Amino acid sequence: MCQGDSKRVAVIGAGAGGLVAAKLLRDEGFRVKVFEATDKIGGLWVYSDTRGALYKSLRTNLPKQIMAYSDFPFSPSLPSFMNHQDVLRYLHSYAERFNLHEVIALSTPVRSAEYVSAHGDGARGGWLINGEELFEALVVANGHYNVPNYPQLIKNDFSGFAIHSKEYRSPSPFANQRVLIVGGGPSGLDLVSEIASVAKMVVWSGTSFSDPDTAATVRSKLPPNVKPVGRLEGLESDGRYLVKGAANELVTSDGTIDAVIYATGYKYDFPFFSESSGLFPSRTMNRPESVRDALYVHLFHRKHPSTLFFLGLPALAPGIFKVMEHQTKAIIAVLKGTVSTEGLASLPSFPWVMLEAAFPYCVLLDALAAGTHDAFPHDYQQVTVKLPRDIDLRMQVFRDTIAAIASMPDRYKEREYRIIDECDGGGGEIKWEVVE
Ligand SMILES: Cc1cc2nc3c(=O)[nH]c(=O)nc-3n(C[C@H](O)[C@H](O)[C@H](O)COP(=O)(O)OP(=O)(O)OC[C@H]3O[C@@H](n4cnc5c(N)ncnc54)[C@H](O)[C@@H]3O)c2cc1C
Ligand SMILES: NC(=O)c1ccc[n+]([C@@H]2O[C@H](COP(=O)([O-])OP(=O)(O)OC[C@H]3O[C@@H](n4cnc5c(N)ncnc54)[C@H](OP(=O)(O)O)[C@@H]3O)[C@@H](O)[C@H]2O)c1
Repeated sequence: MCQGDSKRVAVIGAGAGGLVAAKLLRDEGFRVKVFEATDKIGGLWVYSDTRGALYKSLRTNLPKQIMAYSDFPFSPSLPSFMNHQDVLRYLHSYAERFNLHEVIALSTPVRSAEYVSAHGDGARGGWLINGEELFEALVVANGHYNVPNYPQLIKNDFSGFAIHSKEYRSPSPFANQRVLIVGGGPSGLDLVSEIASVAKMVVWSGTSFSDPDTAATVRSKLPPNVKPVGRLEGLESDGRYLVKGAANELVTSDGTIDAVIYATGYKYDFPFFSESSGLFPSRTMNRPESVRDALYVHLFHRKHPSTLFFLGLPALAPGIFKVMEHQTKAIIAVLKGTVSTEGLASLPSFPWVMLEAAFPYCVLLDALAAGTHDAFPHDYQQVTVKLPRDIDLRMQVFRDTIAAIASMPDRYKEREYRIIDECDGGGGEIKWEVVE
């Protein structure tokens, strides 16, 4: 065992990120304690009628073939796009298989996490959790889909039914209604598809839908009672809505709506860090840059690069479970001293991981973990992109899924992927196909 392997590491959260961190850190000999605020593991995948971001019918928007952790596949009997219950069962099996319950403290919220410097007489520095337990390192895996984000409107006089997508559970309350769904992200798309089947009409507001060509494309792929409109700017008391038009002008609708669902995303929230810590501009942030710029490669905090780490923040990830696994391996390399974080604080921040950069990002993390990167790169272009087999496969399936979401937004979850492993000892191409 290497020197330093018995460091104490605190992990905040027992969701998909906290679980994989706990497993890998413990495998390397670190003494891990996972703090979980609720009485259950699984994080976002724990369904509740009153809490959390899942709705009853939610299925994954990525196929199981690219969602799984390494060496722990989803059951072959499951469809590619699974129900949320299947994902929770998978996380339970993972925790049981690796005895992770031993290191998880349920119903134990982290209320404060404070860095204390080492001082005199061999006293050790580190992260003081809840003012009582000291750890050499802290892995933050508290999720970032908890605090709803609402749009800034110039006017909001609407007093009818209005909820955030986090509160949505089923389409039944919207039967025969005229519903405005705000937000062109994955939540907006899912809710539009589901609610259009029962509602009289769905007005779908997306920031890019003021462009007539985009609106026409969106309309052509969705049921006829869905009307795409531009960015929402305001709401009148009688249910008329104000949106951005094609020439950036403000357009007030002729018709009215009965209910609004804000599928406008979430804020980043780290309530356990004090404002005075200077780690972030504030505890709750809706500007992604505020979080991104405080971190290097979305993972290492610039102020404490070798003791403070964040899992799961990249925005568009090719299977975030696996990305968090890559991230944990890079954390382990830093904790073991294989990689020095000297000078890292002054490096530029990486843009949020988007489609083309997602895979160099994983390759970069692997290179950091293996200690094969001489220096921390300045951007994705500096990452040598010879994609290993598993990352190449994920990239192809991920791209195909993104294309399918665009071309068949209300049907893509019916697709089945099949991986055809050539079993040639790891050197050759892995093939995959879609079984319609
Ligand atoms: C509606 C929705 C659908 C999604 N669908 C998919 C999908 O199909 N495929 C996919 O790959 N990803 C999907 N995601 C992304 C999803 O966030 C990840 O799959 C993954 O669950 C994130 O895991 P996590 O561990 O980072 O966070 P979470 O799952 O949110 O877990 C965080 C944990 O930290 C705990 N916690 C928070 N604060 C504290 C505290 N102060 N002290 C102690 N514990 C704390 C929470 O209780 C929770 O258990 C979806 C996200 C949303 C919002
Ligand atoms: N498994 C599933 O099927 C499923 C379902 C739902 C969600 N998810 C996951 O949940 C996570 C969050 O997704 P999300 O869709 O909730 O959040 P999101 O991706 O942050 O999307 C929010 C959207 O709201 C838009 N928006 C903000 N203000 C607006 C306004 N005034 N008018 C119109 N649009 C406005 C944003 O547009 P701009 O970006 O242009 O500002 C953005 O497209 C993702 O990881 C996603 O994959 C998965």
